[in-house]
This record gives sequence, structure tokens and C-alpha cells, in this order.
Amino acid sequence: MVAERGAEVLVASNRGPVSYGLADDGALTAKRGGGGLVSGLSAIGPDAGAVWVCAALSDADREAVRRTGGRLDPADTGGQAVRMLDIDPGVFDGAYNGIANSVLWFVHHMLYQIPLEPVFDAAFREQWAAYETYNAAFADALAEEAADGAAVLVQDYHLALVPGMLRERRPDVRISHFSHTPWAPPEYLRILPDDVRDQLIWGMLGADRLGFLTRRWASAFTSECAGRWDHMSVTTTHGVTPQRWYVEHTRTQLPPTRTTDVDVHPLGADAAFLRERAHRPDVGERLAALREEIGDGRKVIVRVDRTELSKNIVRGLHAYARLLETHPEWRENVVHVAFAYPSRQDLAVYRDYTAEVARVAGTINDTYGTATWRPVILHVKDDFARSLAAYRLADVALVNPIRDGMNLVAKEVPVVSDDGCALVLSREAGAAEELAEGALTVNPYDIEATAAALHEALTMEPEERAERTKRLAAAATALPPQSWFLAQLEALRD
Ligand code: G6P
Repeated sequence: MVAERGAEVLVASNRGPVSYGLADDGALTAKRGGGGLVSGLSAIGPDAGAVWVCAALSDADREAVRRTGGRLDPADTGGQAVRMLDIDPGVFDGAYNGIANSVLWFVHHMLYQIPLEPVFDAAFREQWAAYETYNAAFADALAEEAADGAAVLVQDYHLALVPGMLRERRPDVRISHFSHTPWAPPEYLRILPDDVRDQLIWGMLGADRLGFLTRRWASAFTSECAGRWDHMSVTTTHGVTPQRWYVEHTRTQLPPTRTTDVDVHPLGADAAFLRERAHRPDVGERLAALREEIGDGRKVIVRVDRTELSKNIVRGLHAYARLLETHPEWRENVVHVAFAYPSRQDLAVYRDYTAEVARVAGTINDTYGTATWRPVILHVKDDFARSLAAYRLADVALVNPIRDGMNLVAKEVPVVSDDGCALVLSREAGAAEELAEGALTVNPYDIEATAAALHEALTMEPEERAERTKRLAAAATALPPQSWFLAQLEALRD
């Protein structure tokens, strides 16, 4: 499936476009994932000879690698050439749960409870070594698969060292790295051990281009580089939209001076896909079931998240409780539909947070609920069709992360909404850079202000709501996944 001369375009990400399940009888079942990358990559078409390199995330994935030698059966992947890497489970755990999810995710989302954590001890050093090994496995595979001068698009904090490692192995290829998260400001990034921070920065600067979701994250990254003035200089195209930065850097093992371009590609919602998907029969069925659960004539506040510390679900529930307390007229007349889907359950802190979300939702129902009204409907089983049904019927969407690279829910709701939906949006979500005009923006830590914004959203006149929804949908779809992906690819080939 990979042409003899190698692939012209390669994508590398931890989570690939397909995952496997293993039945008791040994049969493998493939489940294809969605998301911006899958849809973006489809834009280059099946003939482009693109290869996607990803990691095996489970025992079933490892079994699929064992049976196929790592080049997955195209029948499982919708024709996409996928090379899945079987990384030693201990190494994978240290790299993914240890460094990627418990260190880099925490740093970029500024999630540490600073007086007690982080602790960079011997266990951390072992995890860091695992992260290096895991990044090297990707660099090896990419070096093997790439044609001369190929374009390699590396994704996210899991693979921050790959650009530098790949450049050492294959100086001929063009490399980009895209961050789907925020980037920590220099003052916060300083938490990391100095050598680790250096490795991350130099690893990423192995790329020809670095992409971020917003100006804010790109500018945090380039501020970090500007602080290293004895190695680097940063110039920028002020006043030009989109803004671009150029980081010039010198390092002995690399060619004398190289320049890494940094720019912003704000991933948008895929309107055509979402609208079509949201009107299929399975979504219709869930819409009917949700309406039944909610009860007639009630307003609906919807949130849809992974149960993720940065999503701020607990404060969102407190704000809703405060709304019911300060505006008793909403009791019996509003329902908060909260979908909080499981995420990273290998980590105790995520399990605790999941329990806390359920506890607070339960307390609100015990305090305010009546025989005829359940104030919070919490669902935790991941169901995309039901999420779309909730988007369609929402009067208000609550998206209040304490920090978020973009947040696609904020962009998807206005596109799918049946009758217009008011958006209460955290100013700390990357999406706020484009959506601030149509949304009601809040400080996500401020429960009183969030409760007040929920009230304002619920009482918004239908005409204003419709008009804002239109503006939100236009901004949300400015850069759909296919254009987002092609823009990066073209920039890299320039
Ligand atoms: C979110 C983030 C991505 C990240 C992904 C990993 O979608 O926006 O930046 O790559 O989570 O999630 P996972 O479930 O694979 O840990």
C-alpha cells in the first residue's frame, strides 16, 4: 500500500484514525474515528499516497499490528494507508499517561495545584526517557516511510520531539508540527525542568513550520523563543493578517542558522458533514427521547464535553445551581442537559473529577428537583448522535473551559442548531478569538458572572438569538477541516 518510493505526504499523531476491539473468539473489529484530522486528510484524496503513522493504544490495536505487520488493512481504515506502531506498553504508558497527559497537558492548560504539584522526581525521569523512546519510534517510522522531500505533518504535544529527531534522520523532508492545545506562557513553562523545556523547544524547532490554533498560543510560543536571545531571534509580520512569526535559531548539530515559520490555522467546524449527520434517523430518535426526558415547554442549556479537568464542568454546574437560586422563576422551567463523556480514565485525577461531576449534578437534583422536574440530566456514555440531537434543541450552549486550544463544541452548536442557540463562552477558549462577537463571553472562574450570562442567554429575544447564531456559524465555518489541512500542506510545500 505504500508506494515503493515512499509517501509524499505523511501525518503523525498518537491517536490514529482507527481503533480495534478484540472479541472473545479472537475476531478484530475496527472502529473509525472522526475529528478534524480525519476529515482534513480526506481533502488530499486517495491518490496522493499519504500515510498516517499512529500508535497502538490498546491490546486489541497491538493484536492488529501483530497480524498485519503494522500496515493496517485498508478495509479497516476506509482506504487510508495507516502504519500503526506497536510501542512497548510500559514505554507507551510513561509517554502517554505520564508525560503527555500528566505533564504537557497540565502545563499547557495550567492545571497544576501548584503548592503540591508537580514533583519532578526519579519516576518523572523514567517517564521522560519513555517519551524520548516513543518519539524516536515515530521518527524512525516516518524516516522509513517518507519519499524524498516528502511533507510530514506532525500533530500535538505527544510528538514534540519528533521534528528534531526526524530532521536528524532525514534532512531532506519538509516538517511541520501543529499544536491542538494552548501553549503555556513562558512564566508557566518555567515549571518544567530546564533540560526538558529545552528539549521540547528544540524538538519543535526541528520543524520548518509550527502551527497553532490561535494568535494567543502562537505568541506564547514565540515569546518563549524570544527569551532565548543568545540562540534565537524572533521577527513577526505585525499588522498583517494572518500574522506570522519567524524564529531564527542556531544550534551546533543543525545547519548553522535555520528559520522556523510560526503561524495560526484556526480549525473550524465541518458544516456540510455536521448538517447531514445531524439529520439522519438515529439523531431524530435521540432528539425525541431527549425531548421526552426534558419535558414540554422547558428551556434547555446544553453542554457536551469529555470529562476533562480543563473543561470546568464542576464550576459550570455550580453556575447553573446559582441561576436556580437567584432566579427562582427558572425552577421547573429549564433543564441543564450535560453530556460528560469518559476520558483518560487510567489517571486517578480524571476518575476523581468524573465522580465529582456526578456528585455535584446529584446534589443539584436533590436540592431543587421535584416529582415532575429533574434540573440536571447528566449522560456519561459517549454517543455522537445524541450530542448532535442536543445541539439541535439547545436554547443555550455552555462552553466554559478554564483553558482550551480551540473547543469545537462552541463552533459546532451554532452550525447544527434548529432554532438558534445562545452561546455562553469562556474567554479562555481558543474559539473566543473568533466567536467573541456573537457569544456571551465569561471569565470561567467567575460563577456569579457565568450564572448571570446563563440568565441573559435564556432571556435573549429570539431575533437577537437567531442573528447571533448566524454570525457564530459564519465565523465557526471560516476554515473547515479540509481547508485547514490543505493550508498547512501548501504552506509547508512553499
Ligand atoms: C483533545 C485535544 C487534542 C488531543 C486529544 C487527545 O482532543 O484537543 O489536542 O490530541 O485530546 O486525546 P486522547 O483521548 O487521545 O488523550
